Amino acid sequence: IKTSDVNDAGHLQIGGVDADFLAKKYQTPLQVFDVTKIRQAVQAFKRVFEEEGVDYEVSYASKAFSCLAIYQVMAEEGAHTDVVSGGELYTAIKAGFPMDKVSFHGNNKTRSELEMAVDNQVGVIMLDNFHEIDLLSQILKEKKAKIKVMLRVTPGISAHTNEYIQTGQVDSKFGFDLGSGQADLALEKVLANPDFEMIGVHAHIGSQIFDVRGFEGCGQKLCELSSHWLEKYGYQCQVLNVGGGFGISYTEADTPLPAEEFVRAIVKEIKTYCSQHEMPVPQIWIEPGRAIVGPAGYSLYTIGSRKDLPGYTSYVAVDGGMGDNIRPALYQAEYSAVLADQPLAEPEEKVNLVGKYCESGDILIKNCPLPKNEPGDVVVLLSTGAYGYSMASNYNRNPRPAVVFAEDGQDKLVIKRESYYDLIKNDLKY
Ligand code: LLP
Repeated sequence: IKTSDVNDAGHLQIGGVDADFLAKKYQTPLQVFDVTKIRQAVQAFKRVFEEEGVDYEVSYASKAFSCLAIYQVMAEEGAHTDVVSGGELYTAIKAGFPMDKVSFHGNNKTRSELEMAVDNQVGVIMLDNFHEIDLLSQILKEKKAKIKVMLRVTPGISAHTNEYIQTGQVDSKFGFDLGSGQADLALEKVLANPDFEMIGVHAHIGSQIFDVRGFEGCGQKLCELSSHWLEKYGYQCQVLNVGGGFGISYTEADTPLPAEEFVRAIVKEIKTYCSQHEMPVPQIWIEPGRAIVGPAGYSLYTIGSRKDLPGYTSYVAVDGGMGDNIRPALYQAEYSAVLADQPLAEPEEKVNLVGKYCESGDILIKNCPLPKNEPGDVVVLLSTGAYGYSMASNYNRNPRPAVVFAEDGQDKLVIKRESYYDLIKNDLKY
């Protein structure tokens, strides 16, 4: 929390709106996004490409957070978006997002999803496997349509938050393997079908990555593949898509490079390769999700019950939990929290900040430092914008929270809180 995030009343402000006020106005649990931060993240990525003088697209990986409003913001920012399901595609269509700026990903897109993508003429379909090449060929033939495609490959790089392994991650459900010649075979099939316009190659090495060498390695692998294809088939990739995965800070222990600096390193790697091999520099596409919406998201909860047991860490419970943020339970993900009305107050105790779900694993933050607090206080988890709401569930039949966009001192409801009726609206009596 910076002092600029605190208003004159000493409260946390999000997009210039008082967090306590938002909690009162919309109730909790509540997900709030600072839209200015979202826009700035996209713009920072674009600036790097412009400074480096290469053609590019910034494609927002909307699996991180998908709703009508976020596609509207991405359209305003001139970003592309990637979708991974008929549902995300449908949402983008309904938001009026330009279809030529959509990439369609997924390792098992269904026939109806592919038909939907062809009918709506999405910008590019990321071909993931041989079954899909055949299925899409058939659909294009039936519909007498053409479509742009890229091939997704597994570059043989596995990068975790703090390590980078060259040979790992060959064993993945996604994409065509490089070493075994599968990627070459896929290219042969694609080039043989005039209904495909093959524009380039894609790889994604993982998520929440801190080690820049993993990204550089990915850029290099794609360059090598591209020059191999030029030599072997005379095929020139127009686009190298290096995926997303740029790590962000969740707690003070996380100190990644600014996300756009990962991109600068990739661009430099690709430019160097191209100049050494006298190749034209291709378009470079990136697909960040977390780095665009993660830091911009805030989860507001109201503190309720408390359990103190001498000799043990106390439990402080809030009115949300694993239903609106499964990441701590699923990945041991860590977050930090502040009180909405005194975000700069010194911590006085460490508690287990837990949710209201009927599971012992429903712990949002273990050993969470908090100032003196009581029932009714609003606690705010920071950097919850990515993979929180998008992975939310109705476990225990809790309604999903509302989502609010805040920008320049204005707040706007963009997803309504689910009602109890919403929970039963698809149920049928037996
Ligand atoms: N492109 C592709 C092909 C992807 O599979 C992903 C993420 C991205 C881009 C965006 O990655 P990002 O920039 O957001 O790291 N649920 C997990 C993250 C799963 C990421 C899956 N793929 C979590 O909550 O950490």
